[in-house]
Amino acid sequence: MAKFEIEGQQKLHGTILVCGAKNAALKILPASILADSPSEISNIPNISDISVMIDILRSIGAKIETQDHVATIDPGNVDSHKPDTDLMKHLRGSIVLIGPLLAKFGHAEFSQPGGCLIGARPIDDHLDIFRQMGIKISLKNGKYTLVGKPKSGDIVLNKLSVTATENAIMAAVLSPGITCIHVAAAEPEIADLADFLNKMGAKISGAGTHDITIEGVTKLHGTKHDVLPDRVEAGTYLIAAIATNSELKIGPIIPNHLNIVLKKLQACGARIEIIDQNGQKYFQTRKHKELKAVDIDTRTYPGFPTDLQSPFVTLMTQAQGKSQIFETIFEGRFLYLEELLTMGAKAEIVSPHIVNVSGKTALRGKEIFSRDIRGGAALVIAALVAKGKTIINGLEFIDRGYESMDQKLKAVGANIKRIGD
Ligand code: UD1
Repeated sequence: MAKFEIEGQQKLHGTILVCGAKNAALKILPASILADSPSEISNIPNISDISVMIDILRSIGAKIETQDHVATIDPGNVDSHKPDTDLMKHLRGSIVLIGPLLAKFGHAEFSQPGGCLIGARPIDDHLDIFRQMGIKISLKNGKYTLVGKPKSGDIVLNKLSVTATENAIMAAVLSPGITCIHVAAAEPEIADLADFLNKMGAKISGAGTHDITIEGVTKLHGTKHDVLPDRVEAGTYLIAAIATNSELKIGPIIPNHLNIVLKKLQACGARIEIIDQNGQKYFQTRKHKELKAVDIDTRTYPGFPTDLQSPFVTLMTQAQGKSQIFETIFEGRFLYLEELLTMGAKAEIVSPHIVNVSGKTALRGKEIFSRDIRGGAALVIAALVAKGKTIINGLEFIDRGYESMDQKLKAVGANIKRIGD
């Protein structure tokens, strides 16, 4: 299995280019099967979660070609409501295929999707919105069968859920009448999906707020779309730059998507400028003095993203004082801490949702294991800070969400090698 070998304590300098957002591309690809003609989607990140989604779409008949971050999808031969079971199990995000399948066929069959080990991650809220749309649901031998064309009307989510909101949107776009989705999640990636669908001919308003209105249309056509920049990838490299006290330019990015993250990092003492180059925005970090501890609580957008909780914890090991990290979204998102502790971090797990970190601590290189995408990124940042050599196993998790992390970091001066395959 592939590993990263990282020799820490190098200063980084230069530019890290940010990819298109994983969590937008993963929904835009399945949404494209709703059209009656091909779509061209650019700024698709070259990561394994996207490869799996492409294979899932191929398993139901989509013709997909990819080159240079552009995917061309011809949905003309999509003729199956049964996506490949093994592939679906690999990727929790694959649940977002169910909304489009119901809108297209009024029928979907699938097994419980898999994904990162960061908590229970049930799909009850997805099933609940489909029930509200009049879909009949049965479960036999671990396989769900959903039958019925989604009906329009008022839908209220149980809680703010990103993928459940996206499923509701995609299920509703072809339903005659008006659908109102209340208690909708408001992440920028949801608004990007709605932009894509509107370019296909859908009539969606309010995406990016907690109330979304959809006027059903009879058909959708293929279109072109450029996926928005990945705020989590940008935030990860921003934290890496600050943790190593390096001067890095990171982008392109939409800075407003990281407002609370910038505020918290600046409260720690980080120096971040926003620069404009050829109409695009970038973060530029500058050297800072001693960092100080800051508390965060993760929330749905526009709150502090749970996906940046683990990189932030690594940063807090390098800040003076105590910080409390309150993870409100997932109850299993501190697995990486065990590895950070072996590297010399001081942190107390108060509950499955709360960790207190004490800094500043010297981190030492060790052999460690990544168990989820963002926890893996947090360990890479720790290795960049640590004295000596760190070996990180479990790269398959990091590769799910970060394109060529080793090459991007090496290009800015990190001493990082990928070994094995
Ligand atoms: C999405 C993102 C993930 C991010 C998360 C929160 C994708 C592919 N993934 O995941 O990167 O960390 O949002 O911003 O977009 N829940 C239920 N029942 C359900 C669905 C969710 O109880 O049916 C719970 C979850 O366990 C969690 C909370 O709702 O506690 C929010 O999860 P949700 O927003 O649905 O996360 P995902 O869409 O899986």
